[in-house]
Amino acid sequence: MITGGGGQLSTALEQTRPDWVEASILTIDQLDMTDSTMVERVTQANQPHAVINAGAYTAVDAAESDEENARLVNRDGAANLAASCARVGARMVQVSTDFVFDGSIREPRGPRDTTNPLSVYGRTKLEGEEVVLDLLGDRAVVVRTAWLYSAGGANFVNTMLRLMRERGQVRVVNDQIGTPTWANSLAGAIWCMLERELSGIHHWTDDGTASWYDFAVAIAEIGKEKGLLDSMPGIDPVPSSEFPTPARRPSYSVMDKQDTWKKLQGTQCVPCAHWRDNLSSMLEELNGG
Ligand SMILES: NC(=O)c1ccc[n+]([C@@H]2O[C@H](COP(=O)([O-])OP(=O)(O)OC[C@H]3O[C@@H](n4cnc5c(N)ncnc54)[C@H](OP(=O)(O)O)[C@@H]3O)[C@@H](O)[C@H]2O)c1
Repeated sequence: MITGGGGQLSTALEQTRPDWVEASILTIDQLDMTDSTMVERVTQANQPHAVINAGAYTAVDAAESDEENARLVNRDGAANLAASCARVGARMVQVSTDFVFDGSIREPRGPRDTTNPLSVYGRTKLEGEEVVLDLLGDRAVVVRTAWLYSAGGANFVNTMLRLMRERGQVRVVNDQIGTPTWANSLAGAIWCMLERELSGIHHWTDDGTASWYDFAVAIAEIGKEKGLLDSMPGIDPVPSSEFPTPARRPSYSVMDKQDTWKKLQGTQCVPCAHWRDNLSSMLEELNGG
């Protein structure tokens, strides 16, 4: 059973679903996580072996002035799912974020490193992790990811391609470092984690690191190569201070994946692809490939 139907990750989970899996992908109308009665009824009806929580309140800036609703979805919704999973004996995959870290240490962060979210979104996602692990113990796996994009979603890649076409010139921040991650790569990793019955906290992003500026340059270069852009746009690196946002974001949020890679050795998920290669695959998909 997969929540958040219509979102980037749930769509990627559908696209990458292995043959051994039967999945019910439920939109918010079919399963609103914040409604515990509905969650219990739908879970009892489906009797899932596993629930993947791909639904979330993901509007990072809006959450700063909407804490109650962000918490209702990201913590309480996750808790409702975990409680129902416990009652039917299902495993649960809770997807979380690199924004649980504050970015003050400029080294890849491991699953056991200290968290300190800077935003309401990060805090409520961390609370969601904690409640799921409390309720389900080793029947739960928390998967932290970052900088997700997919061909169909509203995300940085699609926004950049549009702005590059419309304006021919963009300004992009160069002082936030992380790892762009194709939703299909995360989805594939989630299937591998379920296959191996992993538990506890795991990190999954594509390989490598980038600033948003590096990411934009790669989008332009590969986008032009694939015929998605007629010409190379101008791209100016700027500090985050030029784009003030309501939510504070970590300036460095690269995550250490070594432990997860070790546990997934022998599956099709490792070796994990570099973000630039996965960007190329996504742009190929956009190009109709
Ligand atoms: N996007 C990123 O860059 C990023 C980075 C790190 C971690 N993550 C995490 O990765 C996961 C997947 O993100 P995504 O990019 O696929 O997000 P997304 O495209 O925004 O999809 C989230 C989905 O959850 C749904 N939803 C919202 N409230 C819900 C509720 N009460 N019950 C059921 N569904 C609800 C949304 O429906 P509506 O559209 O109707 O609201 C939407 O379909 C999330 O846990 C997110 O926190 C994302």
